[in-house]
Amino acid sequence: MTEPQTDDRAEFEASNVAAAAAMAADGNLQQKALEVVVDADRYGYSYQWSWLGLPMIQMPADMVAMQEVIWATRPQLIIETGVARGGSVIMSSSMLQLIGEGQVVAIDIDIRPHNRQAIEEHPLGHRVQLIGGSSADTAVVDEVRGLAQGVDRVMVVLDSNHTHEHVLAELEAYGPMVTPGQYLVVADTVVERIPAQEHRPRPWGPGDNPETAMVEYLATHPGFEADEHLNAKLLMTSSPGGYLRRLA
Ligand SMILES: C[S@@+](CC[C@H](N)C(=O)[O-])C[C@H]1O[C@@H](n2cnc3c(N)ncnc32)[C@H](O)[C@@H]1O
Repeated sequence: MTEPQTDDRAEFEASNVAAAAAMAADGNLQQKALEVVVDADRYGYSYQWSWLGLPMIQMPADMVAMQEVIWATRPQLIIETGVARGGSVIMSSSMLQLIGEGQVVAIDIDIRPHNRQAIEEHPLGHRVQLIGGSSADTAVVDEVRGLAQGVDRVMVVLDSNHTHEHVLAELEAYGPMVTPGQYLVVADTVVERIPAQEHRPRPWGPGDNPETAMVEYLATHPGFEADEHLNAKLLMTSSPGGYLRRLA
């Protein structure tokens, strides 16, 4: 097929928006995708990836989505809860490096020395500030609020303890730090849609997870809207419906 000579980017994007919406409405496809997510999870599929050398606990579609969000919105500060082995933190940092400005503030209750070292010695580690402690701890929240003070574009990613109680506390604490036009990403909402992960027992599960917390939070905080297009095209994601944009 010959490439058109005129710039058809707008039409191309519009057709993709329509295709993603149709895909999201295709119950049969959504069911099949969820079955693949559930079956692959038994093999720890989301643990098998890395970003610039550090393990990242995400589905590939979520990594690409995060790249789209960061490039489009150019946050100057990305607040992340849940560091683990550092992949997501370095991904955010690498995007900010490409953009040319910005810092990542990342909080984890259990920053293991080898993970801290791997992040701090990484070529993109200079844009990351690690905070050890619970993301729901008042002192931690106050410290992060101080760092976000006066920054024009602040994005938040919540990916730590996935219980309803903890995620709701995080939403209350960090939701107000998100600036208009920026994203609040609530990770692992898929827990509501899949059977209890008996192969990997966790304190969260159906009825008690990031999705239930997000629903409760949004009921009283109408200042956020789901990015319908992004959510529609993710298909195999850990965070269905979890990409929220703060309204002006
Ligand atoms: C799913 S992992 C984070 C994955 C990481 N964002 C990535 O993409 O590679 C969850 C992390 O949350 C941390 N965590 C658990 N409870 C926490 C809490 N109360 N506050 C902060 N971090 C917590 C765990 O230590 C763990 O490293």
